[in-house]
Amino acid sequence: MSLRAKLTIGTATAASLLLLAGTASAATPGAPGIGDPYYPNAGNGGYDVSHYDVRLNYRPSDDNLSGTTTITAKATQDLTGFNLDFVLNVSSVRVNNRVASFKTEKGELVVDPKATLRKGADLTIVVTYSDAPSKRSVDGYTAWRRTADGALAIDEPDAAPWWYPSNNHPTDKATFDVSVSVPDGLEVVSNGTFAGTVKQINGWTRWRWRSVKPQATYLTFVAIGQFEVRHQVAPNGQPFVTAYSLSSDSADDEAAKASVERTPEIVEFLEGSFGPYPFEAQGGVVTPGINFALENQTRSTYGTAFFRRGANTYVVAHENAHQWWGDSVSVHAWRNIWLNEGFASYAEFLWSEYIGEGTAQENAQFTYDLYPADSPFWQVLPGDPGADKQFDGAVYDRGALAVHALRVAVGDQHFFEILKTWLAKKKYGDATIEEFVAHAEKISGKPLVELFQTWLFTKGKPAAAPGGQVGI
Ligand code: ARG
Ligand code: ZN
Repeated sequence: MSLRAKLTIGTATAASLLLLAGTASAATPGAPGIGDPYYPNAGNGGYDVSHYDVRLNYRPSDDNLSGTTTITAKATQDLTGFNLDFVLNVSSVRVNNRVASFKTEKGELVVDPKATLRKGADLTIVVTYSDAPSKRSVDGYTAWRRTADGALAIDEPDAAPWWYPSNNHPTDKATFDVSVSVPDGLEVVSNGTFAGTVKQINGWTRWRWRSVKPQATYLTFVAIGQFEVRHQVAPNGQPFVTAYSLSSDSADDEAAKASVERTPEIVEFLEGSFGPYPFEAQGGVVTPGINFALENQTRSTYGTAFFRRGANTYVVAHENAHQWWGDSVSVHAWRNIWLNEGFASYAEFLWSEYIGEGTAQENAQFTYDLYPADSPFWQVLPGDPGADKQFDGAVYDRGALAVHALRVAVGDQHFFEILKTWLAKKKYGDATIEEFVAHAEKISGKPLVELFQTWLFTKGKPAAAPGGQVGI
């Protein structure tokens, strides 16, 4: 029973009145960061979001993004105020229908609701804004990219602050409704299922998308431009939505289609290793304007460069593996990035074996041999790479070797049992590397701390490839 419930029963002793006074005066502003050592300002303290309704208008000609985001949340402590992570120019904020005052400073929208918000209270936060997102940079960086025919909000570890206010950290997931109105002739693609278009009064059209499973803020994306959008149904009955930018080179486009159109087949293959696909829809987006790929929930996005030399199903296997490793089970803090990239990279080894292009063991040996002992590659720790090396090649390649080392140590049966039970146990949540190691020890009955110490937390090239030959 909560303290407040006890007090309302009515035995208002002097002691309980004192306690009441104590809790009231303890109300403070929520912390400006959620406590991630790599990104001290990421996320915020004091509340937990359950849903974002992001309702926007975008005019590509002058990069004007305007609209309203409505956030449904709960206070997790007594609050005199709270922060949202946001860089755009705000015109109004309301909290539970009351006008709140606010100020913006370096990526933080600081909200003062004027009345104290009690722990456990439901919050409805309405933020209205209008800005040119590409002009807003924090430390010289902007995650909003204008393209020849539109714009992209796609990045990791974050893109959200450039298009909607949020508690921007993977430990606070929520469901989403995203809709963007754009001039006719453009398409808008986002996560989840397509909820249809609505004609607007001004010759614009609103595109609506809905995600009903918990989704991290950085995995929520929008792509605006001229796209060929294909609405199909995957063999498992789920919506399968792909979108190909019309401003990309047509040869690349065919190679992209020959890769991304195989997503349901690849998802089905991955289910064999990881268990049931955790989300309600599948798909992919291919676009120029980014030189990376990102595992946006239900709709991974690929820069066209991945298909410049022909079809590439490895990147599709990699991004879709992230739907389990990263999207369903997210990093508790960004230091745990190996839990995402190590396993997504290992999925490429598994796919290689499946399509007959080399076993996982051969891939592991090849990867180990690729980097000489004196390469800086071996100086980056996949288990704690640092914010500036979060996406270093070592997190991927040495990260995959760490996964293979586990497989060799525990054997196939225990290995796949470890993966499946972990993903089931942590579904829609977040996790640390230490929790994974403990789980692997528990399932296999083997001590594994030393193995992970070697592959994730020790500088230098280990003496031999996992299950393979001594190095040079
Ligand atoms: N998680 C992505 C991938 O490996 C990496 C994104 C890196 N981010 C970036 N802005 N380059 O699939
Ligand atoms: Zn990845």
